[in-house]
Amino acid sequence: MNALPFPLADEPDAITAERGRKLFAGNTDFLKGVVAMDGLPPADRIEVCFAGRSNVGKSTLINALTGRKGLARASNTPGRTQEINYFTLLDSHYLVDLPGYGYAEAPLHVVQQWQALLKSYLQGRATLRRAFVLIDARHGVKAVDEEIMKLLDIAAVPFQTVLTKSDKVKGKDREASLARTRKALANHPAAYPEIILTSSEKGDGIPTLRAAIASIEA
Ligand code: GTP
Ligand code: MG
Repeated sequence: MNALPFPLADEPDAITAERGRKLFAGNTDFLKGVVAMDGLPPADRIEVCFAGRSNVGKSTLINALTGRKGLARASNTPGRTQEINYFTLLDSHYLVDLPGYGYAEAPLHVVQQWQALLKSYLQGRATLRRAFVLIDARHGVKAVDEEIMKLLDIAAVPFQTVLTKSDKVKGKDREASLARTRKALANHPAAYPEIILTSSEKGDGIPTLRAAIASIEA
C-alpha cells in the first residue's frame, strides 16, 4: 500500500494488462485531423485525449501505445501537432492527439487559433471520458498546465496525470518533480488519484497506461 496522495499507479494485474495489450494490438488507424468543433467525428464511442505542453511527448506516447512509430507525427519542434488528430482503436475507442499549449514555434495567430479550439474541445466534447494530462517528469506542473487543469475541473472532465520522459530524470530530481506534481494535483477536484510514470523511449509505464485506457467502461 502506498499512503501518499496521488501515488504512482501499480503495474496492472495479468488480466487487466492482457485487456490493455489486446486493445492496443488491434487495428489502429489515423481517422482525421480536425480544425473546428463542427469537424469532430460522431460521438459514438469511448474517447480519451492526450493534452500537455508543446513538446511534452503526446504524439510520441500515442506511437508507443500503439506500437506504430509513424502513426502520430512527432518532432523536436514545439508546435508540431496543430490539429485535433483522431485515431481509431478497433471500433470501440478514439485516441485524440491534441495540439500542445504553451510555447510553440508557430505564428502567434495560428497558435491562438488552436489554443481556442483545444479549450472548446476539452470543455465541449460529451463523450470525452478521460483526459490524460502529460507532464514532463523533469519539470513538473507549470502555470499553463494548471490553467488546463482548472478548465477540466470546471468542465468536470476527469483527468489523469502522465509523467513523460522518465528516462531523462533519475533519483532525487524525479522525486522532487513528483512531489511538486502531487502538491499541484491536490488543488484539482477532477484529478484522478493515480499518476502514471512513462518513457516512450524505453517503454516504461506503457502497459500500465494501456491497461488504464482499457479499463474505462463503455
Ligand atoms: P507538440 O505536437 O508540438 O505539442 O509536441 P508533442 O507533445 O506531441 O511532443 P512529441 O511527441 O512530438 O515529442 C517531442 C520530442 O520529445 C521528440 O523529439 C521526442 O522524440 C521526444 N520524446 C518524447 N517522448 C520521449 C521519451 O519518453 N523519452 C525521451 N528521451 N524523449 C522523448
Ligand atoms: Mg504532437
